[in-house]
Amino acid sequence: MFKNVYNWIDERLDFTPIWRDVADHEVPEHVNPAHHFSAFVYCFGGLTFFITIIQILSGMFLTMYYVPDIKNAYASVEYLQTQVAFGQIVRGMHHWGASLVIVMMFLHTLRVFFTGSYKAPREMNWVVGMLIFFVMIGLGLTGYLLPWDNKSYFATKVTLEIANSVPVLGPVIKELLQGGTIVGAETLTRFFAIHVFFLPAVLLLLLVGHFLIIRKQGISGPL
Ligand code: HEM
Repeated sequence: MFKNVYNWIDERLDFTPIWRDVADHEVPEHVNPAHHFSAFVYCFGGLTFFITIIQILSGMFLTMYYVPDIKNAYASVEYLQTQVAFGQIVRGMHHWGASLVIVMMFLHTLRVFFTGSYKAPREMNWVVGMLIFFVMIGLGLTGYLLPWDNKSYFATKVTLEIANSVPVLGPVIKELLQGGTIVGAETLTRFFAIHVFFLPAVLLLLLVGHFLIIRKQGISGPL
């Protein structure tokens, strides 16, 4: 039955060569931990991607219950934690995943650095990686405010003061992010939009670029 559906679509779209091209692509021996155990460091990028996917999926479910206004935000998170089936688990995955993905990304960056993989011809992918790094930090900072409890409120005040200390542009950046003169209702809706729409959209574009460049240039090494 599935085979028939697959064949029906494939006859019309001829998509088998597209996924075969990815599936049949051989992993070089020097990055395969099954050949050399120390090659596990080459898995860090893929693991970062795996956690990123978990963040996107768990975040999609959290958005179904979260209410981005200062009167209801905290209560909506509390409701999700205590009343919704699997709510606590899904929120826990998103919460811990947010830290884990930064750790994993950092390990991946260390691998790239210590194997010298940022050198020619891969400088562009290092720069794309740096942009991804800032987007991930931005996702962490904007997500932190969303539960709208004391911790997130005061942490965001500190973050915005740091933004404020940027030479010349600081006050403009702070006001743009804050959406007014205080951390309040506008800040929360702004951070929500940035967290669930702007940054994920930019992240996906950057990741597509990251992977296309890797595919084009091949993985670096052997050392
Ligand atoms: C969400 C974050 C990121 C994901 C999901 C990701 C994913 C990947 C993957 C799957 C690879 C293939 C090799 C491997 O797995 O080690 C790779 C390679 C690479 N990444 Fe990332 N990456 C991320 C962030 C970064 C950052 C922050 C940098 C550096 C600033 C970076 C720079 C590079 C470079 C230069 C390569 C090519 C390395 C080589 O050919 O050996 N990436 N990335």
